[in-house]
Amino acid sequence: MSDAEPPAWPPSPLTWPAEPLSDGVVDLDRLTDDDVPRLVVGAGDSETARWIPVPHPYTARDAREFLALVEEAAQEGRMLAFGLRRAGQAPLCGAVALHLEGRVGEAEIGFWVAPDARGEGLAPRGVRLVARHAISALGCHRLELLTHPDNTASQRACERAGALREGVRRAGIARDDREPLDAVVYSLLPGDLAAARA
Ligand SMILES: CC(C)(COP(=O)(O)OP(=O)(O)OC[C@H]1O[C@@H](n2cnc3c(N)ncnc32)[C@H](O)[C@@H]1OP(=O)(O)O)[C@@H](O)C(=O)NCCC(=O)NCCS
Repeated sequence: MSDAEPPAWPPSPLTWPAEPLSDGVVDLDRLTDDDVPRLVVGAGDSETARWIPVPHPYTARDAREFLALVEEAAQEGRMLAFGLRRAGQAPLCGAVALHLEGRVGEAEIGFWVAPDARGEGLAPRGVRLVARHAISALGCHRLELLTHPDNTASQRACERAGALREGVRRAGIARDDREPLDAVVYSLLPGDLAAARA
């Protein structure tokens, strides 16, 4: 048995990369106050509210509270949430969040894309970029993505990102004041990212 200290997990505080994460088509960077109107459009969309526990209707005040929560969660090492944009362009297209509250080396990725930017493959690109960052900069060895069995758009995005479907975790998506939802579990391992690139 080794006497080595177990790795600190989650790594706290979490810091945003100095440069945007980019694949030349999408950029992922820090959310700012300028993003509030687009957060209202994207997080306020009924399809987003159907699958993600966000306030509905979603107001500018909700968006500002979310920005404050993002800062706090990063300080505490719980979550790093990125704004998703078309490369080199300011308007927010979506958000991709990395949650690090589970087992050592494991994290969950959540995402949404605003209705006017869907169907362009932006979410899978964002997921891949965040997964790569989680693996290379934070030492993650497993990224998990949870979607409701009826959320086919999300499942297609997971598959396009290179994630593999593992099965259904019953009552796997907790909700504050309602019954939990079943979850289709996808995982992305370092080798899956390499295979998707190839
Ligand atoms: C799921 C979601 C993030 C996908 O983002 P995206 O960037 O559009 O992803 P893709 O471009 O890869 O499209 C994925 C699927 O969305 C569906 N889709 C395509 N165009 C669409 C459009 N204009 N509007 C809605 N859905 C569309 C298709 O089923 C597509 O799969 P296909 O191309 O194999 O048919 C987005 O639909 C969304 O934000 N939904 C609401 C929030 C949500 O469900 N988040 C995930 C929670 S687990």
